[in-house]
Amino acid sequence: MNANERYPNLHVLGHPLILHKLTHMRDLNTSTKTFRQLLREISLLMGYEITRNLPLIYQPVQTPLTTFDAPVISGKKLAVVPILRAGVGMAEGLLELLPSARVGHIGVYRDHDTHRPVEYLVKLPEPEGRLFILTDPMLATGYSAVHAVDVLLRAGVTANNIHFLALVAAPEGIDVFFQHHPDVPVYVAAVDDHLNENAYIVPGLGDAGDRLFGTK
Ligand code: URA
Repeated sequence: MNANERYPNLHVLGHPLILHKLTHMRDLNTSTKTFRQLLREISLLMGYEITRNLPLIYQPVQTPLTTFDAPVISGKKLAVVPILRAGVGMAEGLLELLPSARVGHIGVYRDHDTHRPVEYLVKLPEPEGRLFILTDPMLATGYSAVHAVDVLLRAGVTANNIHFLALVAAPEGIDVFFQHHPDVPVYVAAVDDHLNENAYIVPGLGDAGDRLFGTK
């Protein structure tokens, strides 16, 4: 049984446009500029899918011909919360779709030896009644993702108001994530083969933060 079948809250958004753009991101010859642009475009496409169930209400609108009750999003408050650094690239795409969303930040780095997350920054908007979308392109070991959800829960966000959005996931990270947070939906573009001994996703796309910001 693959991860997709095992976890009902795992959503693999394998739209051809997303997969095509992801293939270009994986290519080591893709420039920083193009990588950044593609990450933004994929995030926008994924954002379209994950906002599919936002509640609608009907409000009168006057067209040139008549007045009728037309659908608008019901004022659900939203927050986009990138996990630093690479999550920022995904947040930018989402914010093009959701320009009124608040933006939080969770800063964690991966300890070189243990590969466990070390927190250095948490800045969040008011949680009350808000849907939080956490972004991190790589769901690798799963520990940063689990930690970020823990941070939101501690801040008073309920599990049903959290979505986790990643680009590429490793099966190992998916297992870890759902062992801790089975109720939080995870949206990814692809589930790759495995994690290597340095906790990089294979085939993956390398270090997403370095490729996004042009660092080493
Ligand atoms: N973080 C990355 O940027 N890439 C990986 O493959 C794993 C974690």
